[in-house]
Amino acid sequence: VSLLFHTAWENAEVWRAALRDALDGEAVEPLEGGGEADVAVVWNAPPRAFAAVPRLKLVCSLGAGVDHLLSLSPVLPGDIRFSRLVDPVMAERMALHVLAVVLRRHRNLDLFERQQRDRHWRRLFHDDAADTTVAVLGQGSLGRPVAAALAAAGFKVVGWARSPRTDLSWPVYSGMDGLHEAVAGAAFVVAVLPLTAETRSILSAPLFAMMRPGAYLVNVGRGEQMVARDLLDALDAGRLSGAALDAFESEPLPPESPLWSRREILITPHVASLSNPATGARAIAAEICRFRSEGILRNEVFCDRQY
Ligand code: GLV
Repeated sequence: VSLLFHTAWENAEVWRAALRDALDGEAVEPLEGGGEADVAVVWNAPPRAFAAVPRLKLVCSLGAGVDHLLSLSPVLPGDIRFSRLVDPVMAERMALHVLAVVLRRHRNLDLFERQQRDRHWRRLFHDDAADTTVAVLGQGSLGRPVAAALAAAGFKVVGWARSPRTDLSWPVYSGMDGLHEAVAGAAFVVAVLPLTAETRSILSAPLFAMMRPGAYLVNVGRGEQMVARDLLDALDAGRLSGAALDAFESEPLPPESPLWSRREILITPHVASLSNPATGARAIAAEICRFRSEGILRNEVFCDRQY
């Protein structure tokens, strides 16, 4: 058996070796070559690369995001299944990234760094975490650990998800009606959402109008979820106090983007939760083995709900 593989990431060779090891030496071949493989493991593969893979049954994502897989589904045979990468290491990376950017703003570290540049000594005060609400939009395999880490740090956490859930130790609002309730009292709104028709452009003027004046936005999902013009307007109007953004509609973020020069905005170059080859390859291998032996996927992506 062999596995087909495609990514333009700089660590492609590390991934390829890790997948081979995790699958007991199975050959890992370039997707472009086609072949008899039943499984492809990809990130942003061009649809035409699948033309010569007649036996393909499963496509696995090298990352947590699956918008790149869903964009393939219209051109692939309808019975091909899709799987996302769920890895506790990525969950921890995401949780710590969000905790870091929330604490940076909450504890005024951004302002102290600016003051230090001017040798300016001025005490600033902050609310206690217990009096500070963070709304976490998205309660999936990354949103839940983010919420848990914030709760463990002492913040009041509320969640928002597509469908209701009551199995978590923080309240979770759901549906478009619940969005207002979720964000209205929050000092921080953190978006950890998959890109779907419903979440595209969700971080825009209507949501900003629901948020508490002076609230801070964190987006670690997809750039297409945010309307940059609306964010800039909300900052200008003082509706929002700032934002930490990790994902952009166009990456790398073009030098001419007005987001770069706003000091209330922290820009990170899509690093919040990088996939980790060693543990990620083991998680993908386990999913492939389950699929091959029992036809079961633990982390299946459903085209109708788009995640
Ligand atoms: C990164 O954006 C990912 O989806 O894993």
